[in-house]
Amino acid sequence: MKASQYFSMSLFLLILLISCPWLISANPHLNNFLGCLDSFYSNDISKVIYTQNNASYSSVLNATIQNLRFSTPTTSKPLVIVTPLQTSHIQATIRCSRTNGLNLRIRSGGHDFEGLSYVSQVPFVVLDLTNFRSVKIDVKNKVAWVQSGAILGEFYSEIAKRSRTLAFPAGICHTVGVGGYLSGGGYGLLLRKYGLAVDNVIDAVFIDVNGRILKRKSMGEDLFWAIRGGGGGSFGVVLSWKVKLVSVPSTVTVFTIRKTLEENATNLVHQWQSVGHKLPGDIFSAVTMRKVNRNGKPTILVAFSFFFLGETNALITLMKAGFPELGLKKEHCTEMSWIESILYFGQIQNKSIDVLLDRSYKSPLNAPWFKTKLDYVKNPIPKAGFEKIWSKLYEEDAETAAMAFIAYGGKMAEIPESATPFPHRDGNLYHIAYTVGWDGEENTKSQRYMNWIRKFYSFMTPFVSKSPRGAYVNYRDDDIGTNNKKGETSYAKASVWGRKYFKNNFDKLIYIKTKVDPHNFFKHEQSIPVSV
Ligand SMILES: Cc1cc2nc3c(=O)[nH]c(=O)nc-3n(C[C@H](O)[C@H](O)[C@H](O)COP(=O)(O)OP(=O)(O)OC[C@H]3O[C@@H](n4cnc5c(N)ncnc54)[C@H](O)[C@@H]3O)c2cc1C
Ligand SMILES: *[C@@H]1O[C@H](CO)[C@@H](O)[C@H](O)[C@H]1NC(C)=O
Ligand SMILES: *[C@@H]1O[C@H](CO)[C@@H](O)[C@H](O)[C@H]1NC(C)=O
Ligand SMILES: *[C@@H]1O[C@H](CO)[C@@H](O)[C@H](O)[C@H]1NC(C)=O
Ligand SMILES: *[C@@H]1O[C@H](CO)[C@@H](O)[C@H](O)[C@H]1NC(C)=O
Repeated sequence: MKASQYFSMSLFLLILLISCPWLISANPHLNNFLGCLDSFYSNDISKVIYTQNNASYSSVLNATIQNLRFSTPTTSKPLVIVTPLQTSHIQATIRCSRTNGLNLRIRSGGHDFEGLSYVSQVPFVVLDLTNFRSVKIDVKNKVAWVQSGAILGEFYSEIAKRSRTLAFPAGICHTVGVGGYLSGGGYGLLLRKYGLAVDNVIDAVFIDVNGRILKRKSMGEDLFWAIRGGGGGSFGVVLSWKVKLVSVPSTVTVFTIRKTLEENATNLVHQWQSVGHKLPGDIFSAVTMRKVNRNGKPTILVAFSFFFLGETNALITLMKAGFPELGLKKEHCTEMSWIESILYFGQIQNKSIDVLLDRSYKSPLNAPWFKTKLDYVKNPIPKAGFEKIWSKLYEEDAETAAMAFIAYGGKMAEIPESATPFPHRDGNLYHIAYTVGWDGEENTKSQRYMNWIRKFYSFMTPFVSKSPRGAYVNYRDDDIGTNNKKGETSYAKASVWGRKYFKNNFDKLIYIKTKVDPHNFFKHEQSIPVSV
């Protein structure tokens, strides 16, 4: 080969590589996938494709990873991340993933407790909805359309900008994505007054496995039922949600009363169990517990945190009638707007509401590495039970452990179990969330904490719901069972975790899944299986 020929050949290759950097990759799936996308959308789609050799790949992938347990050098990474700007990009991504045998993971806010929105054990593509985050509020009709890629904080602040007396019943942590949150149920400060977030969804825009764009009317009531709580990533891509906004008074009241064991905490939390679910629906209450050292001695710090839809005086009257032992006084209470209560419960020191727009905000409540599990409680735990719980929390490996009880009852108990896939309604006094968290590398320390929380969960068996032991799909927990790494399973195996999440609604979810995605394209380690 002559030098000039060699030169033009290299130049040709160079140009080819610059214009089509994915040709560097040797992965046939990837090449075919990219070629497929390209053949549909020669120009505009290339701007939203991040392959592993793109300089921004790692920062785009990391952007919403909430749990560093799923961001280690050995964590499997997507071949491509697509951040669609328009619906047709999503349709093309579904189609090209299908035709090339690639698993597709949908990511809205990236808060999945098992990282399922951005980790898969088979070659995969991440469809990241970060650019689908518009929020449209209709104050007059008290409804809103919110896209899945918005975070709760973006939705909240948009509501608050328009009205001080409208709200949406969703979670406390404002960086959670609307897409995953609404797919799995969604509890928050207003659950006893207005139920879960999904109880307030009235329409949705959905893209199915064939790329069809469906709304409530065209998808039918079965599918519309399934996407409101059946868990994300099983049925298709929900692009946006139409929700009812709810009324809140312009002034709400919050307080937190902290007690140690020396200050009668055991009796108070024991009693709270029979009180929290019976208080008026205007009162939300949470009790958190963890070990602390006071004067060089270990004790348990129990924090009673309440939220009330009304003013201080009315709350004090209600608490005198319902839970006088807590000793609520005026000076414990702070009045504020609903939106400020989100900052209060998120323990956000920054008083600017704009902090709710910060998608990369890291809450002091959440360690960078963590494991969480959840239980439902139907009968009060006896005092002797609490004594045993405290002794477990004193263990060395429990140094980062915390428990949070959230009272149910109110509206939660009025909604039938089958109204949505989320079945944990009447008869539940409260749920318990257990968390261990740590900072730093995955190492023996993390293994110790993980082992501790699993042992503790097992220890809690006699105190919590049974047959099935309930679990919450938005508090996804791989320990209760999974599909295989390809997202496939038998009915018998899936029933174990499926009934914990959905009780008898699981059968209807399988029926609907089989109808809308019969070849099981939308799948992951805990996706709803198809019936065979
Ligand atoms: C710090 C923190 C605080 C939390 N607080 C609460 C709380 O107060 N109340 C509560 O109920 N839950 C809470 N959760 C749990 C949270 O609701 C779930 O983790 C939820 O699934 C997260 O949604 P996401 O969009 O951020 O997550 P993602 O990881 O993006 O998605 C979660 C799952 O849904 C799928 N999915 C995402 N978007 C879509 C879509 N558009 N269409 C179809 N499937 C989709 C994903 O593939 C994945 O399987 C909290 C979680 C964390 C980490
Ligand atoms: C990385 O991907 C983005 C989005 O597809 C694209 O705009 C950019 O040119 C790519 N950069 C490189 C170095 O390939
Ligand atoms: C993404 O996260 C990983 C693991 O935490 C880290 O090693 C990497 O440097 C991060 N990438 C960027 C661009 O921040
Ligand atoms: C401790 O709490 C219980 C129940 O809440 C209450 O009946 C009792 O009077 C309290 N004891 C003291 C010393 O405050
Ligand atoms: C508070 O939040 C605002 C909006 O995100 C930000 O501009 C400001 O720097 C923050 N202030 C502090 C002290 O963190």
